[in-house]
Amino acid sequence: MQRTPEPQELMDDRAQAQAYAAANFSEANNLFIHLLHQLQPGELRGKALDLGCGPADIPLALLREHPELHIEAVDGAPAMLELAAHKAAAEPSLQGRLKLLCETLPCADLPQGRYDAIISNSLLHHLSDPNDLWLTVQHSARPNATILIMDLARPNSPLAVDTLVETYAMNEPEVLREDFRNSLHAAYTVDEVREQLAENGLQEIEVGMVSDRHWAARGSYHPRR
Ligand SMILES: C[S@@+](CC[C@H](N)C(=O)[O-])C[C@H]1O[C@@H](n2cnc3c(N)ncnc32)[C@H](O)[C@@H]1O
Repeated sequence: MQRTPEPQELMDDRAQAQAYAAANFSEANNLFIHLLHQLQPGELRGKALDLGCGPADIPLALLREHPELHIEAVDGAPAMLELAAHKAAAEPSLQGRLKLLCETLPCADLPQGRYDAIISNSLLHHLSDPNDLWLTVQHSARPNATILIMDLARPNSPLAVDTLVETYAMNEPEVLREDFRNSLHAAYTVDEVREQLAENGLQEIEVGMVSDRHWAARGSYHPRR
């Protein structure tokens, strides 16, 4: 099935952002956190960059578990960042370690070569040019930084899309079902992501399916000489 880009790259519509922030994505978020712990067992320290953080559920969960971790979380949608700020305000003990940045990729203003980890869940399919993400990884990661990028994988057919929407969003509001459907149509396949990594000189980052609907690209960053 051919890819159909998202109708809008940023999730800056207030109703859409609110429905997203109120939804329960704990299964995917827990999978992401589990993969990060597999990649880097033990205590996470230093500074991580979360790209396309949305309502910041993943960074907040990581900060709860890892008291020496700091996260800079980037999103281009002010409506989404307001919701992230609201969630962070409910946990004042974490606030000093979370910095929310309103920036749209590609963004040359992000610090260069500074981050110990670059993480991102469910951003790549929003991007009309996937290189915006891979170039940001190369720009911002320290040598040997941990890289974990996860996203939906585009199914083979519209029927397979409908089956996933019915399986995982049957009782969700229509705005979320529509979002999920659009996301599955806009998602990149494992083969496409592998090609993107190769084009960007990031072959050492491995990509594969990690659930019936997600892939993950995992590894560490080794700058090209
Ligand atoms: C599906 S949400 C994922 C949110 C979060 N990572 C999660 O796992 O729940 C994708 C987010 O990426 C943001 N986004 C899309 N394109 C972007 C870009 N070019 N630069 C920064 N953020 C972007 C959207 O505004 C949205 O908040």
